[in-house]
Amino acid sequence: MKHSYLLILFLVPLLFIGGCKDSKESMDALTDRVFTLASTQYPILAKSLPQDKTPRTLNENGGLVTADIGWWCSGFFPGNLWLVYEYTGDEALKDLAIQQTHKLDSLIVKTKTDHDIGFQLNCSFGNALRLTGDNQWSAMLHEGAKVLAARFSPTTGVIRSWNHNGGGKWEFPVIIDNMMNLELLMRFGDDSLKQIALTHARTTIKNHFRPDGTSYHLVDYDPETGAVRLKQTVQGLSDDSAWARGNAWGLYGYTMMYELSKEADMLSKAEDIARTLLPKFPEDGIPFWDFDSPDIPNDLRDASAGAIIASALIKLSTLTADSGLKGQCLKVAEQQLRTLASPEYLAAPGELCGFLLKHSVGHKLAGSEVDVPLTYADYYFLEALLRFRSVNK
Ligand code: GLY
Repeated sequence: MKHSYLLILFLVPLLFIGGCKDSKESMDALTDRVFTLASTQYPILAKSLPQDKTPRTLNENGGLVTADIGWWCSGFFPGNLWLVYEYTGDEALKDLAIQQTHKLDSLIVKTKTDHDIGFQLNCSFGNALRLTGDNQWSAMLHEGAKVLAARFSPTTGVIRSWNHNGGGKWEFPVIIDNMMNLELLMRFGDDSLKQIALTHARTTIKNHFRPDGTSYHLVDYDPETGAVRLKQTVQGLSDDSAWARGNAWGLYGYTMMYELSKEADMLSKAEDIARTLLPKFPEDGIPFWDFDSPDIPNDLRDASAGAIIASALIKLSTLTADSGLKGQCLKVAEQQLRTLASPEYLAAPGELCGFLLKHSVGHKLAGSEVDVPLTYADYYFLEALLRFRSVNK
């Protein structure tokens, strides 16, 4: 009798734990829930947009803020629509994606482009080509790759990021974000353009990283000699701090460069960055906007950095030969996706003017886009969910 009591005492908690485990939402169900939400949110967002504008964020009253197509993020909303079409197969979303992508038709001729042409075209035209196979989208991508490569200097060994000089501070500024734009060259450039991308990535390995594995945001080069003039931040907390999104761009950028080049140094760098960042995440996986903020744990999170890192970690898990790292990448990425899909981060239907994610940080110290929705947080969140699904098929 005494034994059966003990058995019951032992079994009840086990049944309870088992019950909780079963009630955890599967990643398939979570993914379906997010894409179903996106397929109702984005038509709301598209409907509010003036003809020639792209969504940027929300203002302090919750109203939609839009931007011209020259804004560095103009490719993300079309990209979001393409990703939702990819998941749902919904032709109405495809039509919206086509319509929003065509807004960028005059990007090269009408706007003063910079390195962000990679983001702008890859996410919009790049996804359009990938998902339709229709060659009407390719001319722009090839032309964009040439425009981006023309910013390369053989003396510095890098592509110049911005046209401006920071009010006289810089001569040839290169930001870590630039790693992302190399994808345009790797996918749509000829061999000489691919070599430019690889040279940029190799030079960045040399000059952009600190001994602790984190990256500087901006490195300024002397255009005459190629020497490094300055290492600074623009959007981070300080020159020596680890700005979360910059480090996210580095992780994603080197992972992508390895995937597309198979050059071993690219994989080593991606693995180094992952090993550097993995211990820095809070339990729910979403980084604070700067890893070195003295206000942690009371500072702001950056959902965009969480989404970019999740997407990069899932891809890296398919490329690394280090099984321990692979497991960690997938575990952290799953946690990040679960947190982003929770009510703390994810919009309720009809909320946020049609954006998906709350709590991103654009440029905190400038007071710009602080704790708001941003199109690229949504983009990498959706991409990460698609990647997670394909890895776990
Ligand atoms: N420069 C792009 C970003 O804010 O991450």
